[in-house]
Amino acid sequence: MPWVSPRWPLPTVWQGWDAFVYRVPASAFDADDPAWSQVVREDYHSELAVMRTPAMDSVFTAVRRLLLVNRRRQAGARRGLIISGPATTGKTTTMMALGRSFHLADARQLPGQAERRPVLFISVPPAATPKMLVSEFARFLGMPVTDRLNQTQITGAVCDLLGELGTQLVLIDDVLGTQLVLIDDVHLLDTQRRAGAETSDQLKYLGERIPATFVYSAIDIETSSLLSRVRGAQIAGRFKLFRHRPLAYATEQDRAVWNDLVRAMENLLRLRAHRTGTLVKHAAYLHARTAGRIGSLSHLIREAALIAITEGTERITKQLLAEVELDAAAEAQARPSRPARRT
Ligand SMILES: Nc1ncnc2c1ncn2[C@@H]1O[C@H](COP(=O)(O)OP(=O)(O)OP(=O)(O)O)[C@@H](O)[C@H]1O
Ligand SMILES: [Mg+2]
Repeated sequence: MPWVSPRWPLPTVWQGWDAFVYRVPASAFDADDPAWSQVVREDYHSELAVMRTPAMDSVFTAVRRLLLVNRRRQAGARRGLIISGPATTGKTTTMMALGRSFHLADARQLPGQAERRPVLFISVPPAATPKMLVSEFARFLGMPVTDRLNQTQITGAVCDLLGELGTQLVLIDDVLGTQLVLIDDVHLLDTQRRAGAETSDQLKYLGERIPATFVYSAIDIETSSLLSRVRGAQIAGRFKLFRHRPLAYATEQDRAVWNDLVRAMENLLRLRAHRTGTLVKHAAYLHARTAGRIGSLSHLIREAALIAITEGTERITKQLLAEVELDAAAEAQARPSRPARRT
């Protein structure tokens, strides 16, 4: 999951989410500022900031519209959004950025209401049963869930609690009368298995009970069972699909977007001997290496930066980039004839 330091609670519980929303990014000093120890500079490069991407802009706009459409809707069939795409294209990052932006807007409009929970962010556990799914909601909210409670009891308690928050929201209806629920990794709900099917029913039920806009993310949902058959049709009929594709490099505009992204990442680097502009010069190569996946790009640049620091060269060259081995998906798609990694 992006930007989550092990020192922080996970963002799928309220305290962790809150910490994520209000976290101040690590400040960047000059590369040779004596106040900046090597370890802290390594930490800085192992994380790097999140870039605003075109996908984020599209998702923000789509969800803003859905929130408006859903605002006055009392029961049933609220509209939602599914963010679907290949692995490591930044779906979770986009979703969390969306939640953060919504949360901050809510807090700005209603200052001093610490009990508010404008955003609920959970990740679907693998092979989730309906009870596990709703327990994730409960866990986020900090509700005690004991083994003695059954699924119906937990569901009721969760919906009541969210309903209470909803009541608060109704009081300020004209400002932001809708809660936003984000559910990550929906594709793990395999509707062909019984637990999966029951869980998707549970999702539908929660979607009807909770007066919120639901946003799902999923790996390639088009090919999953979630949208097929009778159950799938109910979800498909209510959700817009946003395809979170890898970034393209075909048109001039594609290239401009990619080059800007590379330039922005390069500007974050704090290496003592790096020649700014090197990465942009190799933007086409970087695209070929990473197949346009922002996760692979970020990995490649961060790892190269860390090697440059630890080995003392303090600069990223094309040769160094070529030596960094990427994830299997990116390596499978990259062009052949690269030199092998130095051992
Ligand atoms: N906008 C961005 N700016 C900078 N780095 C990003 C951005 N989006 C994603 N990343 C990097 O890519 C990595 C993968 O992103 P993320 O986990 O959001 O992808 P995903 O599509 O949810 O992947 P998965 O399908 O595996 O869940 C992140 O750890 C982060 O480092
Ligand atoms: Mg993800």
